[in-house]
Amino acid sequence: MAIPTSRSKNPATITIDEEKCILCGKCIEVCKDFSLEIRDNKLVTSANPLFGCIGCGHCMAICPEGAIEISGRETGFKDLFILPEASQAADYNQLNALLERRRSIREFAEKEVSADIIEKIVNAARTSPMGLPPSDVNVLILGSRDAVRSFGLDFCGYLNDMKWFVSDWFLALMRPFWGKANDEMFKGFVKPMFKFFIKKRDEGINMVTYDAPLAMYFYGSPYTDPADPIIAATVAMYAAESLGLGTCMIGSVHPLIQNGKRARKFREKYNIKYTSREGLVVLFGYPAIKYEKGIRRTFASETYL
Ligand SMILES: Cc1cc2nc3c(=O)[nH]c(=O)nc-3n(C[C@H](O)[C@H](O)[C@H](O)COP(=O)(O)O)c2cc1C
Ligand code: SF4
Ligand code: SF4
Repeated sequence: MAIPTSRSKNPATITIDEEKCILCGKCIEVCKDFSLEIRDNKLVTSANPLFGCIGCGHCMAICPEGAIEISGRETGFKDLFILPEASQAADYNQLNALLERRRSIREFAEKEVSADIIEKIVNAARTSPMGLPPSDVNVLILGSRDAVRSFGLDFCGYLNDMKWFVSDWFLALMRPFWGKANDEMFKGFVKPMFKFFIKKRDEGINMVTYDAPLAMYFYGSPYTDPADPIIAATVAMYAAESLGLGTCMIGSVHPLIQNGKRARKFREKYNIKYTSREGLVVLFGYPAIKYEKGIRRTFASETYL
């Protein structure tokens, strides 16, 4: 048995080249599946791994001799690359400047986002940490203003068909099941949002995806750790910021296209392969406005122990 994802249900295969192995033990140290051990002066696979090789590749990456290869679970020698020098990485001040300069942008210039920039964003997002390899994040890329607009307006049409979901009788029925906080969120946020999106759609205005020239929807599968699509979306967002784009995360779409027949039809139309616990749309485009000031933010709490 191995840890399942939508891409793989089997453990990865570990191949050890005895000729090359110098028994340094580094692979054993980094393997938290306890898949490896030295027995009779030989590196061997363990009879009692924790889960069965998850294919994280850490052993391959740490081995100074190229003596261990992992195959299966979408990984192998071919995926190893030489790390960029530390001096090439952004330092704290550079990174912090990027973080502080970011503002959610909903006003986009006419300029389109080139295929080259899209590729750079996706490449960066692929580096995201994940609950378990291989990544179980899916990305739907809406690469033109028309595609982003259609998606936003279609979503409003879908909400129009789903109005019962925010009706007084339905909210009263659900209150005991989903509790006070959800009830307050639906009454104070979701219901007015439904009405507003639909009204604006009827006026020909897209308030869901703001007619951005590029949008990406990051979502998982029933197996995905719910944090994974959000982390990938965040990395994509900052990669885009580093390329001079403005960005905005859009949380309204994902939770509303998970359940029911109509949601399935919507997903099918956009080739969205799975439902998942979490997902996030991110908008990208060259900003049509420029902020002169940042806004200092605080966490709800910071508890130091
Ligand atoms: C998870 C998440 C969901 C969001 N959903 C939306 C959305 O549906 N529509 C929107 O206009 N902005 C959305 N935003 C942007 C927030 O409104 C924005 O981050 C917040 O107002 C703070 O502004 P700032 O990003 O410029 O600091 C979302 C942000 C996050 C992190
Ligand atoms: S790929 Fe990961 S889990 Fe598998 S043997 Fe190497 S370090 Fe261990
Ligand atoms: S890191 Fe490489 S050389 Fe060292 S024990 Fe593991 S396989 Fe052998």
